[in-house]
Amino acid sequence: AVVSLPSRRLAGRHVIVTSGPTHEPIDPVRYIANRSSGAQGTAIAAALRDLGARVSFVTGPAEVPPPEGVDVIAVETAREMRDAVGAALPADAAVMAAAVADWHVANARDGKIKKDGSGRMPALEFAENPDILAWLSQLPQGRPELVVGFAAETDDVIDNATIKRDRKGCDWIVANDVTPATGIMGGSENAVTLISDQGAESWPRLSKAEVARRLADRIAERLSGGAA
Ligand code: CTP
Ligand code: CA
Repeated sequence: AVVSLPSRRLAGRHVIVTSGPTHEPIDPVRYIANRSSGAQGTAIAAALRDLGARVSFVTGPAEVPPPEGVDVIAVETAREMRDAVGAALPADAAVMAAAVADWHVANARDGKIKKDGSGRMPALEFAENPDILAWLSQLPQGRPELVVGFAAETDDVIDNATIKRDRKGCDWIVANDVTPATGIMGGSENAVTLISDQGAESWPRLSKAEVARRLADRIAERLSGGAA
């Protein structure tokens, strides 16, 4: 019988994928986080692996388990995620699918905060987290050839994502509308628009696995010298 081997167009390539939320501690038992199941990032890592890439999968505490056959680097906070991405370099491409918390608690406590009986909540102070995507996109040396960001938006999705792409300096942005009524957050499907220097290309609503396969295909095409 003739067995057709899957094409391994990313063999010999190294891709970093960030995925899941980050957790920013308030004290040992409490944290601040973004909503993210990690499903889309996990599917992307699996699709890149299927094309033969070596994948460094830098993941926050996600709901879905990481894929098999990738290097899993588990982190908690945005600062740890930035350090893990830095340690995984050099890479041919990076896909930043993580829902990174924008702030960490600057006055996080080593011990559990107790209610003091006054009924008032303790005051939390916040400090901005490093923007991992912007940092990687603007690395003066050792920048991956292709840097892909995500933009989960609820309003003016394409405009906001286009501005985000320019501001951060990444090559592509995968934008999606996460208005609760779409059912995309936490669901198994996604409807994305790929924004590049060629403009905005909207894909139909697909399973997250199919979005991942298409994106991995495009990455393989681009790294082999093809068009965006
Ligand atoms: N991102 C990152 N590090 C951060 C924040 C975001 O790497 N500290 C990445 C995300 O993984 C994603 C992209 O940047 O690929 C866009 O994230 P988003 O939260 O939409 O962008 P922000 O610049 O944080 O803008 P907003 O104020 O809309 O949250
Ligand atoms: Ca953000």
